[in-house]
Amino acid sequence: AIPKQGSCLFERSKFSDAPSGEVTIIYGFDANYPPFTVMQPNGTPVGFDVDLMNLIAEKYGWKIVYKPWDWSTIVTALENGDIDVIASGMTFNAARSQKIWFSVPYYSYVHQLVVRSEDKRSFDEILNSNEYIAVQLGSTSDEWADRLIKAGYKFKKLGLDSYVSALEALLDGRASAVITDSAFLGPYLKKDPDLAAKVKVLGSIGAPNVYAIATRPQDKWLRDKINEALEELMNSPKWNELLKKWGLD
Ligand code: ARG
Repeated sequence: AIPKQGSCLFERSKFSDAPSGEVTIIYGFDANYPPFTVMQPNGTPVGFDVDLMNLIAEKYGWKIVYKPWDWSTIVTALENGDIDVIASGMTFNAARSQKIWFSVPYYSYVHQLVVRSEDKRSFDEILNSNEYIAVQLGSTSDEWADRLIKAGYKFKKLGLDSYVSALEALLDGRASAVITDSAFLGPYLKKDPDLAAKVKVLGSIGAPNVYAIATRPQDKWLRDKINEALEELMNSPKWNELLKKWGLD
């Protein structure tokens, strides 16, 4: 059976009321996930998802407080109320849907296995090399590594704090491969031809996935507003401009 979003036991009566008066939304995101969310040294976040959240907030007159958060604990941060929303290239999946609720999806991608360009080995050889494959801790690539190891593939997992660090580990030899999101890798390599020459995608892993914006189950009012604004945006000419701006087209 497909699990319902949020706990199946979640009761409608527990939905929170929409706040009256001025609304402040604490926006949690990964500080190092280009082109979706990046915290600049001057303290201003930028990226496709930052633009999305800003446009949504603008529509409703909300004030946004930006809060970078470690990806591996970001779901707990949302549950605990440290943040109110996650928009940071977050994959909608069944396991997460048990704890948090997602908006309509707004971007699709696949997971990819990436190696150094000169590596002549096959997909299966890499997965059975007994060498390190780098992932971002708490990400869907982390889940993939666990799943593959459980399925009998022979490699070791190197858990790092971002996909950017995972690619660094690939280049400096700490890892022989990286599992990452095509939505990150494509634009990242487009921006850096030197790096693009040094790595290659060996293949994709699993079915396509989608990104969506996460809220607490009880904040139905917030999710409804986000969905309304997102659908309006996705069905406007502005959507393609945004994709283009961030190299996601
Ligand atoms: N899409 C994957 C996930 O949801 C990887 C995310 C990479 N980092 C990020 N901040 N979105 O776990």
